[in-house]
Amino acid sequence: MRKRLIVSAAAGALALLLSVPASAAQAGPGAAGVGDPYYPFAGNGGYDVSHYDIRLKYQPATDELEGTTTVLATATQDLTRFNLDFVLQVKEVLVNGRAASFATSREQELEITPARTIAKGSPITVVVRYADKPGQVQRGGYSAWRRTPDGGVAAQEPESAAWWYPSNDHPTDKATFDVSVLVPNGTEVISNGTRTTSQRPGWTRYNYRQTKPQATYLATLAIGKFDVRQDTTPGGLPVITAYSPDLGVNAGAARASVERTGELTDWLSTVFGAYPFDTVGGYVPNVPTSYALETQGQIFYSPAQFARGSNTSVVVHELAHQWYGDSVSVQRWSDIWLNEGFARYAQWLWSEHENEGTPQELADFFYDYYPATDAFWSVKPGDPGADQQFAGAVYDRGAITLQALRNTVGDATFFKILKGWAAEHKFGNATVQQFQAYAEQISGRPLGTLFTTWLFTVGRPAAGSDGIGVPAPAAAGLAPGATTGTRP
Ligand code: ARG
Ligand code: ZN
Repeated sequence: MRKRLIVSAAAGALALLLSVPASAAQAGPGAAGVGDPYYPFAGNGGYDVSHYDIRLKYQPATDELEGTTTVLATATQDLTRFNLDFVLQVKEVLVNGRAASFATSREQELEITPARTIAKGSPITVVVRYADKPGQVQRGGYSAWRRTPDGGVAAQEPESAAWWYPSNDHPTDKATFDVSVLVPNGTEVISNGTRTTSQRPGWTRYNYRQTKPQATYLATLAIGKFDVRQDTTPGGLPVITAYSPDLGVNAGAARASVERTGELTDWLSTVFGAYPFDTVGGYVPNVPTSYALETQGQIFYSPAQFARGSNTSVVVHELAHQWYGDSVSVQRWSDIWLNEGFARYAQWLWSEHENEGTPQELADFFYDYYPATDAFWSVKPGDPGADQQFAGAVYDRGAITLQALRNTVGDATFFKILKGWAAEHKFGNATVQQFQAYAEQISGRPLGTLFTTWLFTVGRPAAGSDGIGVPAPAAAGLAPGATTGTRP
């Protein structure tokens, strides 16, 4: 799904006026990437996906995954060939009902050559039939399908889709999803959106439907043994939570945290605006990873997140991503601060709510915690580089940046900016530069120096810049009882 640009309509009208036949436009292959500087092969050119219908069958004992993904798309150029991003073994490809030839090439590219050239603007239905053992398929020594003792999980950023469905794997091409998986009775399936099940002898089919635009990396699939709970928030939002029965010592803390999903979603809605999706939830599979991921409306948590007891902070972080990351998504992966800086700041707001430190105190703490010589300050959160995309600075210096903004524009304007940003780009994509322009527009102040200082400059900014890292005597000048941390 891509928002149509006025300029392309104008160009079309111009072409009509000059009576240039559509076929005169150069037909050719779609590009092997969307042009993201961090990941040249992420996504593809030449088409725009509106829907994925993923229909699979899985055998947990052997890791055999087979089935069909149907991709509904529209050509954005005359296409002789196009790519999907996929790593599993393909058996057959149909394009608009006709057999298409296909080849797998470098990186994760499935190159598809349809029997006929597809005209710009026309619909494309791609059916890909496949079967493989995804846990054994590696790229660069790595499989994004994580085997568990009773199944497997796909949840990873910036990619995991290629290990379970073929896609245009870049956040700029969002789509709606149907995911339907047949598994042996006693095995559960977790994916995004609303859930229905049906039975046949010996097998259960789980159907999940995501009706809101979803980036490919935010689609998740988990298969295995789960205790599933279904509930509804007081506001009527369906909540699905699921836990591996084998979480061991982490089981209680995991439930004590993730069962607060509905309550925390309601709390965040008071700060960021209405929750953007139709369902909310979280699941904790039995995996040895340590991260969590904001998979849309159905958050992935590693058991390790709960190793030291309950962790509502991580739940707040991943829920905040539903606004900042999932609804408003990066335009390029270099815009990752728009996700991680905001989600970290949400944790700081929760910390204040729980009387565990204000955002101002936390900003000052992290400013001091990392000496000016620390490698922490060598990462620019506004353009960290692909290999530093999830460096601590993107999160902590990223959240300090928001506190610096808050100190500069004042509380009322700051929260108006946060809420307005989520509304302005709901279900879309945006850049850091657009955020700066938006904050300037709402506050009526030039903010170039602030953003350059905190997001785009290597090294620790001078103490006191935008009210951050002020030495203790000045900090003591905070009005008694001032808990919001705002400084003039
Ligand atoms: N967006 C995720 C989070 O901060 C980060 C996942 C990073 N992936 C990783 N393997 N560390 O919640
Ligand atoms: Zn995050």
